[in-house]
Amino acid sequence: MKIGVLVSGGGTNLQAIIDACEKKEIPGQVVAVISNKKNAYALERAKNHKIFQSVENDEEEIIALLKEKKVDVVVLAGYLKILSAEMVEAFQNKIINIHPSLIPSFSGAGYYGIKVHESVIARGCKISGATVHFVNEGADEGPIISQEVVRIEDDDTPTTLQQKVLKVEHKILVEVLKNMANKRLKIESGRVFLEKSSNKCD
Ligand code: GRF
Repeated sequence: MKIGVLVSGGGTNLQAIIDACEKKEIPGQVVAVISNKKNAYALERAKNHKIFQSVENDEEEIIALLKEKKVDVVVLAGYLKILSAEMVEAFQNKIINIHPSLIPSFSGAGYYGIKVHESVIARGCKISGATVHFVNEGADEGPIISQEVVRIEDDDTPTTLQQKVLKVEHKILVEVLKNMANKRLKIESGRVFLEKSSNKCD
């Protein structure tokens, strides 16, 4: 399975995907990393692993690059832009996003990065977590694929919560990509199901 990753920042999720591919936990490889920010550290991570990288803001160009690289799945890994309908259409049910909260809580416009965790702590939540979902034209709105909970302790701060949630993000993102590679995900009426087993793989 060929994976394209769109990033805007540090790229720890990108790193988790690269590492899992290298360890063959995911039967696939990252073939393109595209950032809308030229100083994103995620680009360095791609360079370190000799993966094609590009800085691009024009979505038509991004679509062209991803098609040229023949990607089977596009991962938004800390990508701070809402995709156009054209992009979603071009990769129907092939784009996934990782979000650092339990969607639908603390998701949608304005909820990104540390702001999510600040809001969760300010609200006094006792749990938070991470969500991987398919992407549609809305912000954090597509069918949910996987979620995992983290407990919030009294001494947690937005920063410590962010670290806890990041660990869970890396774990569920790798699991989802593994399941996608093995063609085990099925979408029905807006819900995603994990098929018991399959021998198929790319
Ligand atoms: C993660 O918290 C992710 O859920 C969100 O942006 C952050 C990106 O972190 N969409 P990184 O760049 O993968 O370290």
